[in-house]
Amino acid sequence: MSSSAPPHVVAPRAAIAELSASRIREVANAGMGKANVLPFWFGEPDQVTPNFIRHAAKAALDAGETFYAQNTGIPSLREALASYASRLHGTTDVNHIAVTSSGVSALMLVAQCLLNPGDRVVAVTPLWPNLIEIPKILGARVVSVPLQLNTASEPQWELDLDALLDALTPETKALLLNSPNNPTGWTITRAQQQTVLAHCRKYGIWLLADDVYERLVYDELAGPLGCAPSFLDLADRDERVVSTNSFSKSWLMTGWRLGWLQAPATLMPGLSKLIEYNTSCAPVFVQRAGVVAVIEGEDIIRQTVLRYRAARDYLCAQLSSSSFRDAGIITPRPKGAMYVFFRIEGETDTLALCKRLVTEAGLGLAPGSAFGPDGEGAIRWCFASGIDKLEQGLERLRSFLAKR
Ligand SMILES: Cc1ncc(COP(=O)(O)O)c(C=O)c1O
Repeated sequence: MSSSAPPHVVAPRAAIAELSASRIREVANAGMGKANVLPFWFGEPDQVTPNFIRHAAKAALDAGETFYAQNTGIPSLREALASYASRLHGTTDVNHIAVTSSGVSALMLVAQCLLNPGDRVVAVTPLWPNLIEIPKILGARVVSVPLQLNTASEPQWELDLDALLDALTPETKALLLNSPNNPTGWTITRAQQQTVLAHCRKYGIWLLADDVYERLVYDELAGPLGCAPSFLDLADRDERVVSTNSFSKSWLMTGWRLGWLQAPATLMPGLSKLIEYNTSCAPVFVQRAGVVAVIEGEDIIRQTVLRYRAARDYLCAQLSSSSFRDAGIITPRPKGAMYVFFRIEGETDTLALCKRLVTEAGLGLAPGSAFGPDGEGAIRWCFASGIDKLEQGLERLRSFLAKR
């Protein structure tokens, strides 16, 4: 080859090469397949999808529903979701709903629809890594506003509302907000929502609300319908507010890859084209299962909340006991979602610590640094699990810390 030949480019574009690999995966890779590892690293229930939901998918397959369908979802699922959203958040028309192939796909579609390279996106962090990386794939810049761990009385993750408003400059394109939050369980209050929405309206900032944990709320915030405060309760249907959601957490359907989004009707033609070019549609037999989940699944949500609340209370009480407190562990009690995000005083490399926990103690937890630099020093424990398993996990943590 002559020296003047152009070099072959065999690398992804720079924005992709620069994406962070998931540190949760990195820890899981160190432990997956090994005997006797207790996995609490992913945000996943330890129970299979309820039978009546699985049955609906089987029946659809048996009926030969193996073909392509409408980009934005089969009409019966969009209608079921519009009436579900109306029950929770006020009148919602089917024209504002699109079905997606997972919650994460809904987030990607919204980002593709709205973000230009160089756009400024503000995110409340620590945050599930996908939410931070997706805007970067589109070339947007993500500016973090960190939650604060207030240890003055009962430890709590808290939002510095003034810092958030300061970050939401007139040049900002979008605010990314996940409440209840993964990993901290922090849940925005109604009063904070009102202030944030008014501010976003003033500057024309898009509000992108990731609401996948809206039904997993444990305290006074839950309200009569068992739902976290949502921007959808406050916003007009056609203003700059988009909510993304998922079947994964509320109906124990992580492996099904089914989600949806609610957006102004003016975005729908664009979103519909993007769905065509990304996945074309969600599988019909999966959508049939979704219809049954939305219409008949309220009992499942109620039972799940009761089970997770007991798990949360148990795990928090144990981690707040003197044996863990003396080891420097500070445990805020999450208001929602399915994680305890506890801090270990003085810890600066939770990735290394979580790898040691897997290999030396058989305990699979997620390092705080997986959720951005503001998460370093803390560890995420998914409590969507039986108490017996949590008990074994705590025992392993206790003896690991004693030997450290
Ligand atoms: C905050 C948040 N958003 C979205 C999702 C995506 O859910 P899924 O892609 O399984 O529908 C998750 C999954 O863990 C999450 O934690």
